[in-house]
Amino acid sequence: MPLRRSIFAPEMWYEKLARPLFFHLEPEAAHYAAMDLLAAAWRVPGGRGTLKGLFSAEPAPALAVNAFGLKFPHPVGLAAGFDKDARWVDPLAALGFSFIEIGTVTPKAQPGSPKPRLFRLPEDQALINRMGFNNQGAAAAAEKLRRKKSNVIIGGNIGKNKDTPNDRAEEDYRAAFRVLHPVVDYFVVNVSSPNTPGLRELQNREPLTALLNTLHQDNRDWPFTRPILLKIAPDLSEHQLDDIAALIAETRTDGLVCTNTTISRDGLRSSQETLTACGAGGLSGEPLRIRANEIIRYLRRKTGPALPIIGVGGIRHAGHVREKLAAGANLVQVYTGFIYEGPGMVSNIVRELSRNKT
Ligand code: FNR
Repeated sequence: MPLRRSIFAPEMWYEKLARPLFFHLEPEAAHYAAMDLLAAAWRVPGGRGTLKGLFSAEPAPALAVNAFGLKFPHPVGLAAGFDKDARWVDPLAALGFSFIEIGTVTPKAQPGSPKPRLFRLPEDQALINRMGFNNQGAAAAAEKLRRKKSNVIIGGNIGKNKDTPNDRAEEDYRAAFRVLHPVVDYFVVNVSSPNTPGLRELQNREPLTALLNTLHQDNRDWPFTRPILLKIAPDLSEHQLDDIAALIAETRTDGLVCTNTTISRDGLRSSQETLTACGAGGLSGEPLRIRANEIIRYLRRKTGPALPIIGVGGIRHAGHVREKLAAGANLVQVYTGFIYEGPGMVSNIVRELSRNKT
């Protein structure tokens, strides 16, 4: 059995063959190549069943999570930024994700930052990106979601266009909210990307309270409301975190996503030369893990036991998921770990978590 497992285990093929090939490509090109390959595998006759057979695991019933009115089959979802335009929701669902957060989606399509804008730091199991919300706009994402086959839970992560000044940001969030409302299961208000100039200033108490109140008000115009969560940066001070906890209660926001990428470069193994070559951007993966845990723990303490928190940052295996849940998260998301671990990552985690629950 151990021999069969080592030969047929998808993670071995990914580690020994696919990852070295993809890592030869420029990171953004590798992302599209890998996902187009997955999408092609999903489309060929028999492909869906094969993908599901290889890459999904039946979660133990005890892993199910009820949060903000939705029932998640297990706690592991895909973080925003991976499938910005909802292009690959069905093939990604076949890899076993419990939920998929699309976006960040802005009202209008925009190209994002000039390339190159995504960099690997293999020594740190990390990535640096300054994508700058490249996306095809809210209407295009909504159209893709209308045509999806899977019933995986979808989060809609929304932001503002680069050329919209902060004093008009609210209009952008409202426009994206309106277009996506019929086709997503929950919303995430992203005010924490480091790659749109000035965006993170929207995390300040006054503009954020106003923005969340307006979206909640718009939400009530619909025959059914959608949960609205807030995604925050890991670089906030304790004082700012206290403000976040207070305004979440005040605006009755449904939950938090902790955290986005960091602008810090502390404690990295990669050389200064490598970091200088990458330039500005948000750092994700292993170096973010502990900081994200601290933020989750702090906000859990400040907000009490009821507020749903999605923990994200540096997860690569089941132990890291347990760590985030122990810090106070109800659900978790992955991005960078998925690039390094490959398509078998979620099923391995679910299998491992299920083992202790049956
Ligand atoms: C991201 N992330 C992100 N977050 C977000 O809210 N909107 C976005 O558009 C993006 N885009 C994006 C692009 C790339 C290339 C990366 C690596 C990340 C942040 C992501 O959702 C997550 O919060 C962090 O990456 C931390 O999780 P990991 O990567 O350490 O698991």
